[in-house]
Amino acid sequence: MAPLLEIKDLHVEYKTGRATAKALNGINLTIERGEALGLVGETGAGKTTIALSALKLLPREVGNITGGSILFDGKSVLDMNHKSLEEMRGNKISMIFQNPLSSLNPLFTVGEQISMVIRKHEKLSKKEAAKRAQELLELVGIAKYRLDDFPHQFSGGMRQRVGIAAALACNPELLIADEPTTALDVTIQAQILELMKELQRKRSSSLLMITHNLGIIAELCQKVAVIYAGTIIEYGTVEEVFTNPRHWYTKGL
Ligand SMILES: Nc1ncnc2c1ncn2[C@@H]1O[C@H](COP(=O)(O)OP(=O)(O)OP(=O)(O)O)[C@@H](O)[C@H]1O
Ligand SMILES: [Mg+2]
Repeated sequence: MAPLLEIKDLHVEYKTGRATAKALNGINLTIERGEALGLVGETGAGKTTIALSALKLLPREVGNITGGSILFDGKSVLDMNHKSLEEMRGNKISMIFQNPLSSLNPLFTVGEQISMVIRKHEKLSKKEAAKRAQELLELVGIAKYRLDDFPHQFSGGMRQRVGIAAALACNPELLIADEPTTALDVTIQAQILELMKELQRKRSSSLLMITHNLGIIAELCQKVAVIYAGTIIEYGTVEEVFTNPRHWYTKGL
């Protein structure tokens, strides 16, 4: 069987005004089914660019894929039509964004939003979906009585938890988490990581975990890739890379 996600020799450029800047210089990454890959690297290294490329969500006109290929489940993402892309983004890959505000609709209560995601994916009555939404929100530590609140009534950390519940609602085959817990306090962080671990174990979904925190990677991931200035400088099992780092940058971590 083909790997779930296969990125080959990916090149991406950003155009700002007249200048173009290379963000990715020939990235190769593979995520097998059920595997968790950690992606680390300093700010500006290209981590979010990899995630957005996999979803074909680079900012239009500005971010351009100039070479390489991306296969999801053996199919070329870059050649997918609108319908297949929607299907992939909605059902198969979920992304938890660095900025949780952008992913929530201000006009619906959090309970409604999670229910809507669930009903898009499964044939459930409104009542059943609401019950499932409540379970998901409780799982990420949001009390029942807050289901009818709107996003603006939540703190940043709470909104991030709602975003995580929404991302889990469709049982994704691949969950991409871009620094999902940086804004949260340590206790909640630990709960959310536990949740992701469980998700991986129970549903054998794959995970791409983007983080600066090597502890998180050691805890959650089997493989790790280190990116530096748009190039993967180290890639292997967590054990290999952590016990025998080859590159000076990784040694410094
Ligand atoms: N919309 C954009 N327009 C122009 N340049 C961009 C844009 N988005 C990213 N870049 C540039 O591309 C490079 C990679 O950015 P990217 O956001 O992928 O890094 P990152 O590893 O996710 O960083 P961070 O850890 O800060 O989130 C950086 O040099 C960044 O300035
Ligand atoms: Mg980023």
